[in-house]
Formats: sequence, C-alpha cells, structure tokens
Amino acid sequence: MRRLFPVTDQTAEPSAGPTAGPAAVPSAERSVLVDREWSLDELADAYAYPRVGEEAIRGGAADPHAPGPAAEPGRPRVWLRANMVSSLDGAAQHDGRSQPISSAADMRIFGALRGLADVIVVGAETVRQEGYRPARAREAFAERRAAAGQTPAPAIAVVSASLDLDFSLPLFTEPKTPTLVLTGAAAPRDRLRAARDAGVEAVIAGDGPGIDPARAVAALAERGLVRLLTEGGPRLLGQFIAAGALDELCLTVSPMLTAGDAQRIAGGPSPTAPERFALASVLEEAGFLFTRYRRI
Ligand SMILES: NC(=O)c1ccc[n+]([C@@H]2O[C@H](COP(=O)([O-])OP(=O)(O)OC[C@H]3O[C@@H](n4cnc5c(N)ncnc54)[C@H](OP(=O)(O)O)[C@@H]3O)[C@@H](O)[C@H]2O)c1
Repeated sequence: MRRLFPVTDQTAEPSAGPTAGPAAVPSAERSVLVDREWSLDELADAYAYPRVGEEAIRGGAADPHAPGPAAEPGRPRVWLRANMVSSLDGAAQHDGRSQPISSAADMRIFGALRGLADVIVVGAETVRQEGYRPARAREAFAERRAAAGQTPAPAIAVVSASLDLDFSLPLFTEPKTPTLVLTGAAAPRDRLRAARDAGVEAVIAGDGPGIDPARAVAALAERGLVRLLTEGGPRLLGQFIAAGALDELCLTVSPMLTAGDAQRIAGGPSPTAPERFALASVLEEAGFLFTRYRRI
C-alpha cells in the first residue's frame, strides 16, 4: 500500500526501496510513498478521528453539530464516518455481499476503522445478509482505545424498524460491548419485548416505526458514543446523506466491473442539492483506491 494523496513532492517517487529517492524528501514521507504493507498502527494514525467535543455532548442538544456549552469553536460534537466499497461501475455488492468486490487490504482498513470507532451503526439488512458478529477487541488498538476512554471493542448499533432480528445470535449474546438496536417508537411491541428479554437495549430514535437519522446520531452521542462509523448498507447510508448527517466517507474503489443491477453505495431520496465533499487522502494497493472524503 502506498499513499497517492496528499502529494508532498511530485518528484519524490522513490525508485528502489525505502531508502531511495531524493535526499530532500524526509524519510517519513518516503515511507508512505513506497508500496509495502502498512501496520494497523500506521493505518490508525492515518484514519484518526478529528478531536470530538465529548464534554459538550452531555448537554444533549438535538442537533449534534450545534456548538454546545463546552465545545471548542469549530470542533464537532460528534463525527459520523462511513466506510463503503464500490466497483468501478458503482456496484456496492455482488451476489448480495460486498466481499467479492473487497480485498485483503480493504479488510485491513475496515478493521482499522472499526478499531477507532466508539460504535458501528449498520442497517438490519446488512446484518442479516452479511451475518454480522460482535466486533473484536484487538490487541493492536488496545492502548489507543484505553487512552481515548473507549471500551476495548466498539459497540454495534443495528438500525431496524421491524426488529426482525435473531436475538439469540452471538451478535446479541456474546458482544464485548453490548449491541444496541436503534428503532422507532412504533416498532412492533412483541419484537421490542424479544429484544429486552434477550438483554438488548432498544434505543428509540424516531416517532414512527423507523428512526430519524439525525435523532439516532444524537441518541448515540448522548450515550457518549461520538466517534461513529457506519458500514451501510446503501439504504441506511442514503438516509444519513439526505439528513446532512454524514461528515466523512471512506470509499474503496475496487478495480472490478460487475454490471448487473446491484445497489450503489447510497440509495433512497436525494438531498435537495448534492452535498460537496473534499478529498482528504488516497491510498493505493493492487489497483484498489482507498479514498477519504470530508464534508466541506
Ligand atoms: N459495498 C459496501 O460497502 C456495502 C456495505 C454494507 C452493505 N452492503 C450490501 O448492501 C446490501 C444491504 O444493504 P441495504 O441497503 O439493502 O440494507 P441496509 O441499509 O443494510 O438495511 C436496511 C434495513 O435497515 C433498516 N432501516 C433502514 N432505514 C431505517 C430507518 N430509518 N429506521 C429503521 N430501520 C431502518 C430496515 O430494517 P428492518 O427491515 O429490520 O426494518 C431496513 O430494511 C447487502 O447486499 C450488503 O452486502 C454493501
């Protein structure tokens, strides 16, 4: 893996290994230009969340981006990042799963992003189709997470209106950090009872059967979960985009063409106008581009 952007010195491409290249290029910069496997620590540094204003969140305002009483000027109170993979022709899955368009390096970044998050927010269909299990507490992130006051593993928050979920699965029975479900006030009573009987906390974040995306973000923030990572799927991500709640998109562009009728990475109703994002970084390995865009 090597970094393509930001480019520090266009003439600095080393020609033969980590010590090659113009003497003017600092060794740390040379090392990101060389094609080699990055450690999880390097990936965690590269994808660190911005400083988020946890103190302000205790105020519990409905708009998580509104400056709270203790927030530093310009410092967000919560950060919602999405991590998605797309084929060259825009498919977000093949045969109903994202794995065929992913790669080992993509999974490594996927793991690093999980290692940095307080909570992973995911749509119920992705949980059902991809057979979600609890997130792991990985040694590589232990020190970093403890220093940030995080639990050893991120929580998973499953977004569901029907609560048609198997609460006897390890995702709900064996998590390191309790799995939550995010649902609406009109969710089926019997399914709410099934969740509670299984010891799963149901967080109400909408007045109807479903959640309101901004309210779900605020509800997580009120629990101190402020470094948010959504892994989709497309129907859920589309709602975060339409609500203007997405701060960052980590998009893997997979060097594959799939044709067919797969979903794009985001679907559903559009926002009134397209939202503009700025390129923050691009890594590359074996033709896969690991891009990171932030909302302007
Ligand atoms: N390329 C990628 O990076 C990527 C990432 C993730 C997933 N995928 C693929 O995407 C597919 C699944 O994605 P999807 O878009 O169909 O589904 P999804 O977004 O994962 O889940 C949709 C489900 O989430 C719940 N939901 C969504 N919005 C809600 C709201 N406002 N309130 C309450 N619940 C809500 C509903 O669950 P209930 O039905 O339980 O009510 C809905 O059926 C799979 O094929 C998966 O492999 C690809």
